[in-house]
Amino acid sequence: MISTQDLIGDFNNIFDEGEEARVFFAPGRVNLIGEHTDYNGGHVFPCALNFGTFGAARRRKDDKIRMYSKNAVELGMVEFTLDELKLDKKHGWANYPKGVLKALIDGGYSIDSGLEVLFLGNIPGGGLSSSASLELTMAVALKGLFDLDIDMITMVKLSQKAENEFVGVSCGIMDQFAIGMGRKGKAILLDCNSLEYQYSTLDLKDTSIVIANTNKSRELADSKYNERRSECERALSELQNKLNVNSLGELSEEEFEDNKYLITDEVNRRRAKHAVYENQRTIKAVQLLEAGDLKGFGRLMNDSHISLRDDYEVTGKELDTIVELAWQQEGTIGARMTGAGFGGCTVSIVENKFLDRFIKAVGEKYEEKIGYKADFYIASVGDGARELK
Ligand code: GLA
Repeated sequence: MISTQDLIGDFNNIFDEGEEARVFFAPGRVNLIGEHTDYNGGHVFPCALNFGTFGAARRRKDDKIRMYSKNAVELGMVEFTLDELKLDKKHGWANYPKGVLKALIDGGYSIDSGLEVLFLGNIPGGGLSSSASLELTMAVALKGLFDLDIDMITMVKLSQKAENEFVGVSCGIMDQFAIGMGRKGKAILLDCNSLEYQYSTLDLKDTSIVIANTNKSRELADSKYNERRSECERALSELQNKLNVNSLGELSEEEFEDNKYLITDEVNRRRAKHAVYENQRTIKAVQLLEAGDLKGFGRLMNDSHISLRDDYEVTGKELDTIVELAWQQEGTIGARMTGAGFGGCTVSIVENKFLDRFIKAVGEKYEEKIGYKADFYIASVGDGARELK
């Protein structure tokens, strides 16, 4: 665990003497069901985790911004001024918080001096949203240090804007929303079209959420992600030749089946099918969970993976291997990939009494087949972005 005292100690070693830094935190997230539905105007069901990104920060008297990450020491201190808020490849990770700073200033929030921030993250591997976590840590730090009158949903939207327009990754809103609005012990059912949301208590009974990291590097993930987005947009625009809808999330399965002939390309038709069915599946899954039917929820997690594997084609050998091994284990309630895919992590719900056996069996067989290890974590569902006092 990272302690705020240690972080402040590190801050004092790295930056010059001065006022004591304040410590902010934003978690990572795991999505339980509802994948690749956010930018299609559908529902998602993520929760915030108890690991994430810490930021020790204080204001400066001049207009300099100085940022340092203990996760990227090779990059050293990143420095720029308030009138140099431009994407700079050399600044690597720091472009994310820089983009958030710019989005808040452009949004009319008064940030009238520079600041210095030390970041330290403990999110294991890719696929649990370390970038959105970094963005929201910066957002809550700016709110705290500059006493901004800004609510969490606005910080969520401006962080997504920073990632879309400043960094240039066209992600949907799920990650920033889950990280900003997360609550201990709850998952969030979010309608990404209207941004209406409700918390749902995760009554997991005698089971746990197991996250497995494939440790596969996610190169090309961004370009494949953008490709899926445009395939869905093309399918939607053909459906709009007849149907009066603004997003795939507005369609029921029946409406899709009756009108899918409008989509001329077979690949685009499968992409749209996933978006429509996954959205409906997410709504049903949450109803089952709330009715206490955890097994029913798990079955829909499995269906979600099959649809992401066969129709949306974002899984790949590593994710499929873990999920298929997970399905074979005694005590597995459900398992699927989570996040964008193309590597990254899987999420499984597993009965507590089988946890050790699950991790051992899936881990050994994965390594045998893929040639390197996967890492396993038992997830704790925590609160959203905040100042730590
Ligand atoms: C990434 C994006 C999200 C969402 C998921 C897929 O995590 O950042 O907006 O689209 O992929 O569900």
